[in-house]
Amino acid sequence: MRYLTFALTKGRLADKTLAILEKIGITCEEMKDKDSRKLIFVNEELKLRFFLAKGPDVPTYVEYGAADIGIVGKDTILEEGRKLYEVMDLGFGACRMCVCGPDSAKPLLNSNQLIRVATKYPNIAKDYFYNKKHQTVEIIKLNGSIELAPIVGLSEVIVDIVETGSTLRENGLKVLEEVCPLSARMVVNQVSMKMENERISKLIEDLRKVI
Ligand code: PRP
Repeated sequence: MRYLTFALTKGRLADKTLAILEKIGITCEEMKDKDSRKLIFVNEELKLRFFLAKGPDVPTYVEYGAADIGIVGKDTILEEGRKLYEVMDLGFGACRMCVCGPDSAKPLLNSNQLIRVATKYPNIAKDYFYNKKHQTVEIIKLNGSIELAPIVGLSEVIVDIVETGSTLRENGLKVLEEVCPLSARMVVNQVSMKMENERISKLIEDLRKVI
């Protein structure tokens, strides 16, 4: 039996993934050591391997088959547009992709004005404004603290993730439109899905029982 390799998104998603895998009897003790700088972990008994990667890299590892399975946010799947199968909504990490800004920016979303949209997710923003709203906008790519953009005058609105809404509230911004709901998803390499169908299907089936 060959190793089945999982690419997990570093941080909160990985912690929640490990907790849910534990519920179906898949454990990886070594991975719980927060001080470890190790990147890859093995469960010899079950012939499983796990590694941690930055979110946007998870779909890349899965598309190329370096990982058979990935656990990653729907935001990243949409943004990266990789060839893979999205097989399951794991339910955790629930949040929303939204267009946000000050109240005063609301009318700009219903006009044909060329507005600036700051975001970490240019492909999602482009798809939303160009294909759904048919509004031409200038997309400005940022790498974090997106809420700053409308405050300092870089853009009129932002497209960003809203979870509790407290970042928006504390910065005087609001959700103006919802783009789509998000949560953690399981993705599978297209060849692995055929070659390891039995093991992967069993995994999905077991996970469904605990979600
Ligand atoms: C995310 C997101 C928002 C915030 C939303 O940022 O980009 O800024 O969390 O959460 P809330 O609605 O619960 O306040 P993250 O903390 O990942 O950091 P970033 O700004 O570097 O993207």
